[in-house]
Amino acid sequence: MAGNIEVIVCPDAQGVARRAAGIFAALIRSKPSAAIGLATGSTPEQTYAELARLHRTEHLSFAKVTSFNLDEYWGLDGDHDQSYRHFMNTKLFSHVDIRPWNTRVLNGRAANPQLECQAFETQILSVGGVDLWLLGIGGNGHIAFNEPGSPVDSRTRLVSLTPSTIAANSDGRFFKDPAEVPRCALSAGIGTIREARQLMLLATGSKKAAAIAAAVEGPFTPDCPASLLQDHPSCTFIVDREAAAGLRSH
Ligand code: GLP
Repeated sequence: MAGNIEVIVCPDAQGVARRAAGIFAALIRSKPSAAIGLATGSTPEQTYAELARLHRTEHLSFAKVTSFNLDEYWGLDGDHDQSYRHFMNTKLFSHVDIRPWNTRVLNGRAANPQLECQAFETQILSVGGVDLWLLGIGGNGHIAFNEPGSPVDSRTRLVSLTPSTIAANSDGRFFKDPAEVPRCALSAGIGTIREARQLMLLATGSKKAAAIAAAVEGPFTPDCPASLLQDHPSCTFIVDREAAAGLRSH
C-alpha cells in the first residue's frame, strides 16, 4: 500500500509554509465557503503567518470559511494560554476575517466529552465534510492526538497522551514542565480525518525524519498513525529537507 502519498520537499520551513498557504489560498479562492481543517503545534505557525499576510496584502478572505480544529487538551478552558483554542485565536483567527462562530475547536471543558465529540462530527457533516485538512505529525507518528495503536476507523473521542507526546509538548515551546501537560485530550479520529477530501501534512526538522519515512514508506499500520493515510486518494506531505532525510526515494 505504501506509495500513494505525494511528497513535496521544500528547501526550508519557510518554503513549506509558503507552499501550504498557497494550497489553502487556491482552495478558498475557488470555493469561498470552503470547510478547512486546522492543526496546532510549532509546525503550522509559519503557514498561519503566511495566510495572515495573504489576507492583509492579497485580499484572501475567510469571511465564508468554516474551520474545524483537530484536537484540544482535556481540562483546559479556551482562554487558557496553552489551549489550542487560544493558539488558534492568537496565531490565525485574530489576523484574518474568519467569523468566530464559524471556527470550531473542541471544548476541553465540555460537561460531557462524548456528546461534545458527537456534536463535532455532526457539525462536520452539516457543512458537507472538510475540503482540506492540515495536519502535523508527532515524532512517534501521531496525527492530531491519535497515538500509536489508534484504529484506522477511530472517531472523535477522549484519548490519553503517551509519555513521549507529553515530553515533546513540555520542552519549553509550549508547557514548561511535563507535570503541567494534561494527560488526556479530545481528538478527531483517524476515520474522521480520512474523510476529508484532501489532506496536507507538514513536517520540518530532523526530529520528524523517522516518522515521515515510516508514514510514507513503511507498512500501513496503527503503530505509525500517519501511515494510515497511505490509501487516501488525495494526501500530500510537504516537508523540508531535514524531515525528508529518511526517505529512500528523495
Ligand atoms: C501535538 C498536536 C499534533 C501536532 C504535533 C506536532 O501533539 N496534537 O496535532 O501535529 O503535536 O507538533 P509540532 O508541530 O509542535 O512538532
